[in-house]
Amino acid sequence: MKLLVVGGGGREHAIIKKLKENPSVTEIYALPGNGGIAADAICVPIGATDLEAIASFAAENHIDYAVVTPDDPLVLGAVDLLESRGIPCFGPNKAAAIIEGSKAFAKDLMHRHGIPTAAYETFDDAEAALQYVENAPLPIVIKADGLALGKGVVIAETREAARAAVRAAMCDKKFGSSGERVVIEQFLTGPEVSVLAFTDGKTIVPMVSSMDHKRALDGDRGLNTGGMGTVAPNPYYTAEVAKTCMETIFLPTVHAMNAEGRPFRGCLYFGLMLTPDGPKVIEYNCRFGDPETQVVLALLESDLLTVMQATTNGTLDKVEVQFADRHAACVILASDGYPGSYQKGFPITMTEAVRPHVLIAGARAENGRLVTSGGRVLGVVGVADTLRHAIDTAYARVGEVSFENAFYRHDIGQRALLAAKE
Ligand code: AMP
Ligand code: GLY
Repeated sequence: MKLLVVGGGGREHAIIKKLKENPSVTEIYALPGNGGIAADAICVPIGATDLEAIASFAAENHIDYAVVTPDDPLVLGAVDLLESRGIPCFGPNKAAAIIEGSKAFAKDLMHRHGIPTAAYETFDDAEAALQYVENAPLPIVIKADGLALGKGVVIAETREAARAAVRAAMCDKKFGSSGERVVIEQFLTGPEVSVLAFTDGKTIVPMVSSMDHKRALDGDRGLNTGGMGTVAPNPYYTAEVAKTCMETIFLPTVHAMNAEGRPFRGCLYFGLMLTPDGPKVIEYNCRFGDPETQVVLALLESDLLTVMQATTNGTLDKVEVQFADRHAACVILASDGYPGSYQKGFPITMTEAVRPHVLIAGARAENGRLVTSGGRVLGVVGVADTLRHAIDTAYARVGEVSFENAFYRHDIGQRALLAAKE
């Protein structure tokens, strides 16, 4: 089978390595891939949002199955276009991807269908939004409606910060058209849990839970990033919480999307907060999370391609989705300065022993060497029988990778360890 994977980050590297385990896979093309992915797939320099070029490439190369993982191509309708050329795909179509593409849509969906989430108001008019934040209880959360690379959310502790966030999004267009509309919502508290779930629009199969570390610096300080590290499973996500989430959030979301004529197929990501009033949805993503995928797939025992195809064919109830009863940790090495500006082009060195445990996110090949080319450069994964050992293994492996300008968090998994009382 010839596969095509759209994207070029650490998440895609993890997915490609897992897809390769299926013996019927003969070739995997990554569009565009990256310097590290090139060791596992044929990288083709077509951007992840160049939908027309992606569809033409897929048709010309007789691709049997396409896996679309990043948010932008999904929201733009990559799956619709590929399917119109006769290529079966993993991922939601445009109508369903709106669950991530518009926060206002997601909030209204939850409101219409009684799915627990923070109270909110949506604004298209900056004056009305500014007036609203004058009297709203603090802290207050201000979100750009559309995609903003995970940077469109501000938790304002003061009125001044709230006004500034509204102005940045709506008047200064900091996130372009994504911020023309904003959602302003109630501030919730509680541990956060990421749950990725396979769904074919009928059956939903949650994967092992995980915990992201979104802030740039140790102790959850610094700016929000795409994610600086993960552990799985998430100790806060007990069997009892999982049952509540299935009944009050996961199944109702699948049914809500069907009821609205937007059946969702692919990976649905639930960003949850376990509040004193029960689990609530902080955000939906229409795709695998990054770097959640790196730990979740490290524990997946079943064949990924088979499960993905079942979501496309509507046969998810017929396949087994098994996870190892173990623990995984992933530490992201980033370029100093990320998520702000940073230098790139530094050679990356690593031992041969560590190579299989490294997932490359932002690196390109230059004269046969791998050099840094992005903010998040790579993730180092450890798997073990205990959480503590998984974390120690990942950090020991971090010591076997180096590049100038590298920075990483030293406390990935520490909060989880406390919660697990390990
Ligand atoms: P999002 O991009 O929607 O995942 O938001 C980024 C981060 O902001 C989340 O992971 C939360 O830590 C925080 N956040 C978002 N919405 C809320 C909320 N209503 N209350 C408290 N924290 C929030
Ligand atoms: N790690 C969070 C995300 O992928 O959106």
